[in-house]
Amino acid sequence: MSKQAKRQVFLAAYYAGVNESVLWEDSEPGAQIDFDSLKHVVQTAERGRFDYFFLAEGLALRQRGDRFFEHDIAGRPDTLPILAALSAVTEHIGLVGTLNTTFNEPYELARQLASLDHLSGGRAGWNVVTSFDAYTGANFRRGGYLDRDLRYRRAEEFVHAVKELWDSWPEDAILADKDSGEFLATDAAGEFARSTDQFDISGRFTVPRSPQGRPVIVQAGISGDGRNFAAANADVIFSPFHANPEAQEFFRDVKQRVEGFGRHRDSLKILPGSEFVLGDTEAEAQELARETLDRIYTPTTALVRLEQVWNRDLSNYDPDGPLPDLEPVLDGPNHIQGRTFYIDRQGTIDQLRALSESRGLNLRETAREFFGRIDYVGTPEQVADQIIDFVDGEGADGLVLGPRVTPHGLDEFVDRVVPILQERGALRTEYEGSTLRDNLGLPVPERGEQAPAFFA
Ligand SMILES: Cc1cc2nc3c(=O)[nH]c(=O)nc-3n(C[C@H](O)[C@H](O)[C@H](O)COP(=O)(O)O)c2cc1C
Repeated sequence: MSKQAKRQVFLAAYYAGVNESVLWEDSEPGAQIDFDSLKHVVQTAERGRFDYFFLAEGLALRQRGDRFFEHDIAGRPDTLPILAALSAVTEHIGLVGTLNTTFNEPYELARQLASLDHLSGGRAGWNVVTSFDAYTGANFRRGGYLDRDLRYRRAEEFVHAVKELWDSWPEDAILADKDSGEFLATDAAGEFARSTDQFDISGRFTVPRSPQGRPVIVQAGISGDGRNFAAANADVIFSPFHANPEAQEFFRDVKQRVEGFGRHRDSLKILPGSEFVLGDTEAEAQELARETLDRIYTPTTALVRLEQVWNRDLSNYDPDGPLPDLEPVLDGPNHIQGRTFYIDRQGTIDQLRALSESRGLNLRETAREFFGRIDYVGTPEQVADQIIDFVDGEGADGLVLGPRVTPHGLDEFVDRVVPILQERGALRTEYEGSTLRDNLGLPVPERGEQAPAFFA
C-alpha cells in the first residue's frame, strides 16, 4: 500500500487570465475574460474538491517605461461580479477575490462581500491586500498613495470595521410574520459606530448576517507588518514561499506569530502559489516543462523581466545576445509600473551574470532559467508525493495552484493527481460542509470578537 499522508492538503485554483506567466490556449480575443473560460476552471477545481477558486486584483494596466505592458491585453476585470456569476454555476467551492484596503471603503466592501456570501450560500472569501504603488493610486480619487507605515494601519482598521459591520445584525434581527407575510427588522438590526484614525463611520448596515457569519479572510504580503496583520486577523495567507527552506521558515515564523496572538496555529492556513507540469514519465515531464517555459519566455517577456531588474529600458538589446553591460538604476522611479517587486537589483544582476557565464546562456535563456519556475514536475505519482512531502514537512498547509496553460491546464491535475492525493488521505473525496469555513476547518467567529489592535 502506498504511503499515507500525515496532514490534509488544502488546495486553491488561481485564475491568471492572460499575462506573461501563462500560455493561453485560445488566441481568440476576449477568450480570457469569457465566462466559459472562468466557468471551466472553477468547475474543474470543484470536481477536484478544491477549497477555493482565487482571483488576484490588478487595478491598473501595467506600464513599461512610457508604454503599457503588452501582455496585459486581457484587461483586468473586476473580481466581485465574476465571483457572483461563478457562484451560480458551482455548489461547494469557495470563491475568493483580492480587494485592497487602500482605495476602498469598509462599508462598501463589507456589503459586497456579505452579499456574495449570501448568494453563494457561505462560500465567499476576501484576499486583503494593501496594494503597491502610487502609479496604481493615480487611477483613484485618492490620487497617489498612502505612506508605507500607514498602509497596514489602515488595513487593520479597515478589517476591524468590516468585521463589525458583518456582525451588526443579530441572528434574530429579522422577524417574519407568516400571517401577514410581513418581514420586520428589530431595532438592533445593523447598528454600528466606529471612530478611528482612518475611519469615522456610523449608521446601519444593510445586509443581514451572512451564512458564514464572516466571509473568510485571506492575506498576501510578506513584510513584518504584513505577517503580524495576518497572524492577528486572517484565516489564510497567500504566500510567495513555495520551496524549502524559505517556506518552512515562513511557516514557522507565521505560526508562532499566530500563537502569539492567542490563536490556535491551525486557525491560519498558509498556501503558497505553485505550478506543475505532468508527464507519463519523469523525462517527458521535464521536457514539457522546458518547452512550456521556453514558450512563455518570449523575447519580449525576457526583456520585460530584465527591465524590472535593471530598472531601465532595454528594448534595444538583442534577446539572443548577451546580458546588458550596464549598471541598474537604483534610485529612479520604477521603469516597470504596477507590479510587485521584492528582489535586490544589484544582487540579482550579479546572479544573472554568473548564471549566463557559467552556462553560456544568452539574454532570453538567462531570464528563462532564472525566473521561469515550475515547482512540481513529474509523473502524477511523483507530483502527488512531492506535494504530500512538502505539506507533511510543514512547508505549507496546501497550495494555490496556477496552471501554466489556461484555461484547460488544471484538468490534467484533477484527472491524474487528485485521485492519488485522495487515495493517500491527503485530499477530501467529498466536501465536509456547505461553507468555505466548514471546508477549511475554521470555526464561525463569535459575534463581536475582534483581534487585538496591533498598529493603532
Ligand atoms: C503572493 C502575493 C500576491 C499578491 N497579490 C496581489 C494582488 O493580486 N493585487 C494587489 O494589489 N496586491 C497583491 N499583492 C501585494 C499586496 O498589495 C501587499 O499588500 C503588498 O505587497 C505590500 O505588503 P507587504 O509590504 O507586507 O509585502 C500580493 C502580494 C503577495 C506576496
